[in-house]
Order: sequence, then C-alpha cells, then structure tokens
Amino acid sequence: MAELSTKHLLGIKYITKQDIDLIFKTADNFKEVINRPIKKVPTLRDITIANIFFENSTRTKLSFELAEKRLSADVVNFSAGQSSVKKGETLIDTVNNILSMKVDMVVMRHPNPGAGIFLSKHVNAAIINAGDGAHEHPTQALLDSYSIREKLGEVKGKNVVIVGDILHSRVALSNIFALKLQGANVKVCGPQTLIPKHIASLGVEVELDLRKALEWCDVANMLRVQNERMDVSYFPTTREYAQQYGLTKNILDSLDKEIVVMHPGPINRGVEITSDVADSKQSIILGQVENGVAIRMAVIYLLASKL
Ligand code: CP
Repeated sequence: MAELSTKHLLGIKYITKQDIDLIFKTADNFKEVINRPIKKVPTLRDITIANIFFENSTRTKLSFELAEKRLSADVVNFSAGQSSVKKGETLIDTVNNILSMKVDMVVMRHPNPGAGIFLSKHVNAAIINAGDGAHEHPTQALLDSYSIREKLGEVKGKNVVIVGDILHSRVALSNIFALKLQGANVKVCGPQTLIPKHIASLGVEVELDLRKALEWCDVANMLRVQNERMDVSYFPTTREYAQQYGLTKNILDSLDKEIVVMHPGPINRGVEITSDVADSKQSIILGQVENGVAIRMAVIYLLASKL
C-alpha cells in the first residue's frame, strides 16, 4: 500500500508532491463515502484522537471532529480556555497528560509558530498541525488545492493569486508551498506593508494592483486581515483597504473571464470580499468547507496507517 513520507503533518514544507497526490486520491474515496446515506466507515475503530485547540476555530475544529467520527475513531476535545493551561500547565505536560489516557494522534491549533514541530519532538503520538500562529495551516492548503483540482481539473499550470494579509497568514504560506509543489503559478496581492520581504524566495511574484492580479489569474484566494496578529496599523483604514483590495461584484463582472473565488474563512463581509461575491456562483467557499472533511479524513487515515 502507498504511504505518506512522514508520520506527522506539521506543514506542507515537510511533505512531497507524491504525498499530496496520495492524500487527494484517498480524499476522492472518502468524498464518495461522506455523500452516501450512511456516512461512516469502521476503519479507525481502535484509534483515539485528541483535538487540542489553544486558539479559536469554527471550520477546522468541526471538520476534524467530523472527519474523525466518520472514520469511527474515539475523539476527545480540549479547549485551552477551559483547561489547566490557565493554571500555568505547560504544553508538554498538557499533552503528556492527554497521551497517558492512551491517545494515538493529536490535532493541535496553537498561536505559536512551530508549536506542532516542538511537540512532535517531545511526545510519542502522530501530530497534525491545525494552524500554528502565522506559520502553516497544512490541511487548509490541501483542501484549497483539492478544491481547485475539483473545479478546474488540475492545479498544474493554473494562475492563482492570494490576496490580502499575506504577512500574518499561515493559509498563504501553506498555499504557496502546496501550489508551487503542484506546478501552479502563484502571485500575492495586497498592501506592500502586508507582503513579507522574503516572498520572492518562495518563487512567488508580487502584484500590488488588485485589478491586474485578477486579470492574470484563474483563481483568487481572498484572505482576511488578521487584526488579532497586528500590534501596529498596516494600512490607513479598513474602508480604504476594502476600496483597494476588496473583491466586489463590479470588479468581477468587469473581467473578460470567469475566475474562481475562494476564501478560507472566517469572512469579513464587506472588507476583503462583498456578500454578493462570497455568495455568487463563482465562489467555491462552501465547497472548500465540504472538501475539508474528506481531506482531513484522508490525512488522519494515512497517518493512522503509520502508527
Ligand atoms: N479556515 C480556518 O482555519 O477557519 P477556522 O479558524 O474557523 O478554523
């Protein structure tokens, strides 16, 4: 049986094109499963998974829990806000206590970049990074590429622009790694202040003009401005940001082609994207969420087979 090159999923940076192909092929099978009347398979009946979230989440947390339950794994959920982390317990102590309850796999979201990598070196369980600060969000990038492949047939050769707050975005970094691995052409677009200085070293071009970026692309992935990660102002006002970098129906309709519109969520309607665009037929935002369950089932299943 084909297997992943890694026993953890810590970032797209640490996996291969073959890993992505295998995850997508496995997700194709699970997508068929979750569209059956009985959406569950007994595959992981002997596996226990802990979802430990030190940061807020709606989509990722629910999607992982659903994926685990569809695979018949036993699931425990941990939110830092209601835990003994508040009493000063360390990350390793917290996770070792959870693991001593015979947990096989940990899905972790954490505000600190590299938290999953750190954990993987100190505990004996498979670790899946569900977002670590502004570093990586590998399952989001996998579901994003999977959704492009589903919509456009393949990712290779497609022009993808990632628009918005690139500087603070783990979604942007993981998407850049995933898209480049698969042979897509990638540009980033946003205010200069929200574009990392090293971005060219990732093989990515910068386009500061949203209209030019949209005229070039097949796919626009619109990102949220991450105010919670900013301690200074990176642009004058939200209104000006929306005027320069917000995707509106007027701009979309004025292009001479139909581009695919994506957003990882949560959306700030009226800032990076207007409601009529988010809900338009060019938007695949809810399709991304649906694909998230199949992708996470595939990742969990493939990592569980290496335990
Ligand atoms: N896309 C994403 O990570 O959303 P959540 O923060 O709601 O999980």
